[in-house]
Amino acid sequence: MSAIYARITGTGGYLPGEPVSNDDLAARGLDTSDEWISSRTGIRFRHLVSPGETCCDLAHKAAESALQAAGVTAGEIDLIIFATSTPNYIFPSTACLLQERLGNHSAAAFDMQAVCSGFVYALTCAEKFISSGTHKRALVVGAEVLSGIVDWQDRSTCVLFGDGAGAVVLEASDKPGILSSVLHADGAYYDILSAPGQVRDGEVVGDPFLRMDGQAVFKFAVHVLSSVLEECCTIAHINRSAIDWLIPHQANLRIIDAVARKAGLPAEKVVYTVAQHANTSAASIPLALDVAVRDGRIKQGNNVLLQGVGGGFTWGGVLLAF
Ligand code: ACO
Repeated sequence: MSAIYARITGTGGYLPGEPVSNDDLAARGLDTSDEWISSRTGIRFRHLVSPGETCCDLAHKAAESALQAAGVTAGEIDLIIFATSTPNYIFPSTACLLQERLGNHSAAAFDMQAVCSGFVYALTCAEKFISSGTHKRALVVGAEVLSGIVDWQDRSTCVLFGDGAGAVVLEASDKPGILSSVLHADGAYYDILSAPGQVRDGEVVGDPFLRMDGQAVFKFAVHVLSSVLEECCTIAHINRSAIDWLIPHQANLRIIDAVARKAGLPAEKVVYTVAQHANTSAASIPLALDVAVRDGRIKQGNNVLLQGVGGGFTWGGVLLAF
């Protein structure tokens, strides 16, 4: 029996509202500047939801776009995996809310919580379902409303994040497809990036906002993204030079550049969206993929390496032939 591969057949993305610039944040009274933010992070803009706009709203638009690109109807999807740290509810899952919006009534649907690595975790998981033969067409989504959990009084974190959604349709195929994928986590680093609050007895218990040790995250991210690049290439038996496009999690321009430099990959092979989108956590990779597919940079047959790193700490990579 020949192997069943999993291929991305459609991508979609959605960003809410108009871009909000670094100067706009300063004009709203935050003690910051475009010079500080852009020189340390590369971020110039982010998109933020309107009051009442939810994670599922953003995901719905990205999902519709991915389904259209794949030429697949919502009813043909038999698996929905939704990566997010900012779900609409504690339960039911945002995957089920999205399923209802799409009018699908039978697919397996669940959320994936791996923070900024969420999309890579979700895609890897979907690939396992497809390659085992149990499922044929997955909708894999990364969507976030980070603006709801950042502390807008904390300039060291709030300037870094944005809202958005990205999605892909992943289908069974006799051609590759995902060539290799690796996932890792080390909970010893749980407290360098966390949103440690919870709801209990009708009250928020603990700190409800995202907190981060920026310098620790920076060093950790460069180290693990570099090692995951090697792992993905080794498992797929391809040389680093055969990577056509590197799409790392879009947190910080300096992290992305350091990873590309260590791997000997020129900037021309790297997709950057952090300047326009800021850090959209689980949405950042599928959004960047969608941008580069739609503007024609990523073409059929290209080798694309997706890399995630985020709270947990979690990290991973997916190398695929597009
Ligand atoms: N505007 C102006 N000044 C600021 C701002 C701001 N937005 N934020 C902090 N500062 C000030 C600080 O108060 C501090 O001032 P002080 O010296 O008077 O006390 C000074 O700038 C330096 O602060 P540091 O936190 O030491 O700044 P650093 O050079 O480490 O840069 C940064 C901070 C950009 C967050 C950096 O550590 C970084 O890029 N880390 C990576 C973290 C990251 O990208 N996280 C994303 C989420 S994690 C993920 O997605 C994997």
